[in-house]
Amino acid sequence: VSNVGSSEEYSLREPSLQRLGAFIRYRDSCIRHGNENWVGRHALANTDVASWIESLHRRARGEEIPEEWTPWVPETHFWIVANDEEIVGDIELRHPLTEVLRQMGGNIGYFMHPKHRRRGVASFALRSGLRILRDWGLDVALLTCRDDNIASIRTIEKAGGCSTRRFYNGRSYTAQVLDSA
Ligand SMILES: CC(C)(COP(=O)(O)OP(=O)(O)OC[C@H]1O[C@@H](n2cnc3c(N)ncnc32)[C@H](O)[C@@H]1OP(=O)(O)O)[C@@H](O)C(=O)NCCC(=O)NCCS
Repeated sequence: VSNVGSSEEYSLREPSLQRLGAFIRYRDSCIRHGNENWVGRHALANTDVASWIESLHRRARGEEIPEEWTPWVPETHFWIVANDEEIVGDIELRHPLTEVLRQMGGNIGYFMHPKHRRRGVASFALRSGLRILRDWGLDVALLTCRDDNIASIRTIEKAGGCSTRRFYNGRSYTAQVLDSA
């Protein structure tokens, strides 16, 4: 999956040791930008990158289920790569959904490096994710988001997401999956 932007070409890539250097630069730069969420989410990524990458592949096969997230489902993780070089974000696709994920989490999660925000990267990644979900047989994707996450709300609505339900401090959206480009 790739996209020719004004100056950068983005693509989704499976995590691989071949991008070890790029991943470490991405990780360390996220930490320098004070992204504690990111650090907390990926604890193993900070201590043993090879095992972290292996665990992502196990998650994609549904073989590794973080205890705190049970019941959980296969989760496929992609790195968002600029110019086939730097990692600028990541996106996770989940299917099928459990009741827990229907309430909060949905089919797609994403994170962009703070320095690379507001350049359309998340929009590109979300469109790409919606195409992949179509290939997996879905007609509609479920996305959830906190009410105070204006950036994500805009990203989802721009991708055609329609708000369907409000909950505690967030909301759910449905978005039509997309045909391949
Ligand atoms: C949400 C997030 C992924 C958006 O990434 P991004 O690459 O900056 O998004 P895009 O550049 O594709 O922007 C999409 C739309 O949102 C708007 N937008 C992005 N950030 C915004 C902000 N902080 N405030 C207002 N609008 C914003 C953009 O202007 C654009 O709309 P437009 O084309 O009408 O101008 C990014 O802010 C992020 O990683 N946040 C932390 C993790 C997170 O919240 N993940 C989602 C959990 S539900």
